[in-house]
Formats: sequence, C-alpha cells, structure tokens
Amino acid sequence: MAAPNSHRTEDWWRDAVIYQVYPRSFADGDGDGTGDLAGVRARLPHLAELGVDAVWFTPWYVSPLVDGGYDVADYRTIDPAFGTLGEAEKLIAEARELGIRTIVDIVPNHVSDQHAWFRAALEAGPGSAERERFHFRPGRGEHGELPPNDWPSQFSGRTWTRVEDGEWYLHLFTPEQPDLNWAHPEVRREHEDVLRFWFERGVAGVRIDSAALLAKDPALADFVEGVDPHPYIDQDELHDIYRSWRRVADAYGGVFVGEVWLPDAERFARYLRPDELHTAFNFNFLSCPWDAELLRRSIDDTLAEHAPVGAPATWVLCNHDVTRTVTRYGRADTGFDFAKKAFGTPTDLALGTLRARAAALLTLALPGSVYLYQGEELGLPEADIPRERIQDPMHFRSGGVDPGRDGCRVPLPWDGDAPYCGFGSETEPWLPQPEGWAAYAADRQAADPESMLSLYREALRLRRSTAGFGDGPLDWLPAPDGVLAFRRAGGPVCVVNLSPAPVELPAHGAVLLVSGPLDEAGRLPSDTAVWLDA
Ligand code: NOJ
Repeated sequence: MAAPNSHRTEDWWRDAVIYQVYPRSFADGDGDGTGDLAGVRARLPHLAELGVDAVWFTPWYVSPLVDGGYDVADYRTIDPAFGTLGEAEKLIAEARELGIRTIVDIVPNHVSDQHAWFRAALEAGPGSAERERFHFRPGRGEHGELPPNDWPSQFSGRTWTRVEDGEWYLHLFTPEQPDLNWAHPEVRREHEDVLRFWFERGVAGVRIDSAALLAKDPALADFVEGVDPHPYIDQDELHDIYRSWRRVADAYGGVFVGEVWLPDAERFARYLRPDELHTAFNFNFLSCPWDAELLRRSIDDTLAEHAPVGAPATWVLCNHDVTRTVTRYGRADTGFDFAKKAFGTPTDLALGTLRARAAALLTLALPGSVYLYQGEELGLPEADIPRERIQDPMHFRSGGVDPGRDGCRVPLPWDGDAPYCGFGSETEPWLPQPEGWAAYAADRQAADPESMLSLYREALRLRRSTAGFGDGPLDWLPAPDGVLAFRRAGGPVCVVNLSPAPVELPAHGAVLLVSGPLDEAGRLPSDTAVWLDA
C-alpha cells in the first residue's frame, strides 16, 4: 500500500480535508427545529465515513443570532440553543477518537451589541474607558447628526449608528455587530485569552473571521477610492496582532486559518509568513468561473503566491456565505460575485451537478488542504427561500434586492422518508427545506454508488491512501484546449475536461476514479474529471 499523506502527523493541516459544520442547520438532536451539538454528535459517524480530517464549526457561542452567530455575546459559552460547554468538550473528544480534529471560529472584528463590553460602553457614556474598547465618536454636522465618516459597509448600508446620548459607533457589518478597537490592549489580551480557552479544551485550530478587517486607520479618515492603504482593510498593524496570536497557538500546537479576502496576492501572502497564520482561505478559486484557462491561472497564481512563504494553499468551492456549487456551475455566470446575487437566476441543475462532481475531483487533487461545506457532499443546490422566511441581514440591508445567504444554509436532509428529511423531529426546521429535498438525503445517497456522496467518499478514501495527493508539487501535462491535466509528483494524474467535446484519456495508468461515465469510445466527456494511476 502507498505511503499515507501527511494528515496523520503534526503537519496534518497541510493537506487536510476539513468539513465545515454550520451547527444551526447540520442536525437537530433535541427536536426543536434548530441544529445543535447533540445532533452533530449523533452524526459523527457520517463524517468519519466520509473520511474528513477535521471539522470547522461556524460560531456556536451565545448569540442573538442576528448574523447567524457572527454576533457573539460571550466567547466562552455555548449558545443554549446548541447545547452546553460540557457537550462541546465531549464532542471535541468524541470526534478526536474518530480521527477528526476540531476547528472553532473566532470573530475578533466585532461582538454582539449584547456582549457585556458593549452594554457597559452604552451605560458608561461618552468619554468613558468602556467606550474606548469600541469606536465611539461624535458625529459631523452642526448638531453631530452626520456619521463620523463615510466608510462603506461590508453588508451595504451605513457603518455608523447613533446612540441616545448622541455619539456614534462603528460597525462594518450590522448595527448589532459593533467593531472592537484593536488599538486597545484589553481587546488584544481578551482575544488571546479566548484562544487559550479553546485550545485548552482540545481544539486543534481556529478560523479567524474577517481577519483582514480588525485594524482601523486611527484617524478614521474618509474612504477615497483607489487610495492606499484602505482605511480598514489590510492595515499593517494586523501582522503584529497575528504574530502574537501565533505564539499562543504554538504553545498548544494549534493552527489558524484566516478569512482573508484580498485581491493582491503579495499582500495576501504576508499573512502566511512563518510566524503568522498557518493558512488562509483562497477565495480566488471559489470565485473563478468554470473555464479551463481561468482555473489554471487561478491555481498557478495561488501556488505561486504561497510558495515564497512556504504555506500550503487551501481550496474551497463553497461555504455558508456563497451560492452553493451545483447552482453556481449551473448558471450562465459560473463565477461567484457577492454583487451579482439576484432572485430567480435561471439554473441548469443537471449541468451544475455534472460540473460540481468534476470540480470535486479537481479540488481534491490539488496541493494543499480542502474545505468542504456541509451538504456539498450531498450535492445540495442553493434553495429558493420564500421572501417571508428569509432571515439573513444581508437581504434586509440590501433593501430586499439581494436574496442573501439563507439559500445555502438550509437544514440538511438525512433520512428521505422521515419528517423534514430526518433533520430533527416533527418540528419544522428554522429555514424551510425546498420540495424534492428528500432526493438528496444522505441515507438514499449512501445506497447509490452513482451518488455525490459515494463519489466524495471514494475520492477522500483514495486521496488518503494514495501517495502524491495533498501537499507537494504539481506539474501540468500537455492537454487540448479547454482541458486541465496535471500530475502530482510520483503520484496520480488528474484530467478535467471543460471543453464542449469528449477527449481521449492520456496514456497513463489505470482509472482510479471518474466523476461520470466515460463514453462508448472510452473518452472523457465534457464536464467530467478523472484520476489516473501513476
Ligand atoms: C464572514 C462570515 O463568514 C459571515 O458569515 C459573517 O456575516 C461576516 N464575516 C461577519 O462576521
């Protein structure tokens, strides 16, 4: 048998497959319509059978859930809707016994307006020490009636809200998510303590939310298009923050993955220097259209930007913020762009599914680690949520124009014959499951060798047991237009046909796995990928 990849060593994160759990929608253990930790614990066998190396939980802390938990009221307590701290500890330990590590999500840019610090700041009033942990300012205009600056929000709308005593506070997201002042030493100390708190509970890693937004221009100067540096994105002070975080993580052998959306490759790579973050999400690949030349460029750019800092790349097709993969690839515009989300976009799901299967083999063959978003292994499409059931603040802040992100957060289907597809009990889940959801249920797919679930299981099994996958070099092979072909050093070959016609398979070893049937002549059809033995 071939040598296993590095996921069993302390370098596990360099080529891990990490499964993202959105706890509210994964599985409902107590039958109240909301997913919870009991549900995750009951479904751990699904993750073990799938063969993932780690699970990343989106925030599970006490939260009013204004932004799906990214509005944290207490970083050291589990939201009662999800369970207890004791349960989280059990879950971390049980997962570890199955060989699955845990990654938690830390949200350092902002807290909930229900967080003790923000409540104290409101109470203490202007000029108080409590307000200094946030960005409180008097307004502009004759009576302070205008916001202190013109910064655009990450969620459309204003970034400042005025409180009763007349001061304004900054929030890059919703008003219920006040931004912390990262120039304040207590803010830094508190977060390092929170990191220790979770590492001490056995977590192996931390995902850092909005990692490039924490530091703000101290003058809070107006935003001027094209002027560098941006007043709140990618400020130089961030690197010092992450260097001290790294020292905390190193004491526990913990790792970081930063949510860093930056178009500039060189600036992005700075976060991955050896004394900063271990990894960061690669959103360039996620945003890339289904086009061989563009994908190849995205892969090459990604590998080139990571190489000088020695960090492994990460590959993501989908997460809780973006349109689900099969839907995105079934549309005329196959790239992802937040600005382009619209209701009623025509979608060819059969085509999207074909491409998503091929994309799965492409992604899993690339050097580095891979993130899978819950339901991706079931080939779930983006759901159309009836307007009156939408909960995502992105929808409301766009004035109802943007459908928001609920369509990729629908409770998972587990059992095709049970009420609400076995998500929990007979209580209706917090978001409606669309018609036909049962066809995607995990139990039905497990019994079908042609299903998306079977494809993922087999791909992960091969990726784990075949030398050459994971971390390491990638060499492009000659291929016709519209076809991606590469070999992993000493290992397998991956060919993806994005051209409109079938292509001959290159003369390499036997077929290890194919994302769809070859044609009668043994050729690789359009929108299909294959792994060949070395
Ligand atoms: C990124 C998270 O992924 C998203 O869901 C959230 O709304 C924002 N950060 C704000 O925390």
